[in-house]
Amino acid sequence: MTDNAGNIVTVAVLGGTGKEGSGLAARWALNGYRVIIGSRDAEKAKAKAAELNGILGGEYLVGADNVTAATQGDLVVLTVPYGAHKDTLLGVKDQLSGKVLVDVTVPLVPPKVRTVQLPDGKSAAQEAQALLGETVRVVSAFQNVSSEKMVDPSVTVDCDVLVTGDDADAKADVIRLVEASGMRGVDAGPLANAIVAESLTPVLLYINKKYGAHGSGIRITGI
Ligand SMILES: NC(=O)c1ccc[n+]([C@@H]2O[C@H](COP(=O)([O-])OP(=O)(O)OC[C@H]3O[C@@H](n4cnc5c(N)ncnc54)[C@H](OP(=O)(O)O)[C@@H]3O)[C@@H](O)[C@H]2O)c1
Repeated sequence: MTDNAGNIVTVAVLGGTGKEGSGLAARWALNGYRVIIGSRDAEKAKAKAAELNGILGGEYLVGADNVTAATQGDLVVLTVPYGAHKDTLLGVKDQLSGKVLVDVTVPLVPPKVRTVQLPDGKSAAQEAQALLGETVRVVSAFQNVSSEKMVDPSVTVDCDVLVTGDDADAKADVIRLVEASGMRGVDAGPLANAIVAESLTPVLLYINKKYGAHGSGIRITGI
């Protein structure tokens, strides 16, 4: 994937060593993005990148510590548990200035992860925007995509992705990222609407348990 000047777009996935981030990272790497797996521990990131390269059959991804990854990323994706959301963002705040941050975080509060429990800031994405300030364009996406469905990068995930944010160009960048992961991105309005995508995830977790499903998802009909 190239930008308007023809340069390959670099995506940094902070917490990309984990379940959600690594599933997305592999798909982006296969579909034309340069991808950096970020971690608190550079060696752990390099090991995950090597593991994914082994699965993909090529030198697709590299690993680095989160600060280096955020420095090099044109688009920076955050995939850490809600408990690590604030500290991870504070650790890369300077590196994010002028960039797009894609927040994948769901504010789950264990042990009641099947109940909607919104943070005081209303949504994790809005908290991120408040914490990072106006120089960072926060876009919220992928909250309803189960990592279980992304384990095999050759399998298409049966889920739409609600994309919310206050900057139209940033949302367009992220919708391209969604398409590169093999899903349909749906512009779902301003960042304030992230509250809905974040709230749907505990509902899906409830549905998974109730119906014995492994990674239920969502579809928007009528468009
Ligand atoms: N799993 C899913 O199906 C799914 C679906 C939709 C959305 N999400 C959301 O995506 C985010 C990541 O989910 P996940 O399942 O990928 O999580 P995870 O595998 O438990 O953790 C992801 C990464 O976050 C970092 N991390 C974990 N605990 C941390 C801590 N206390 N402080 C700082 N970093 C920490 C770790 O990276 P390092 O140790 O390498 O730094 C870890 O590999 C969550 O907000 C989740 O709600 C997940």
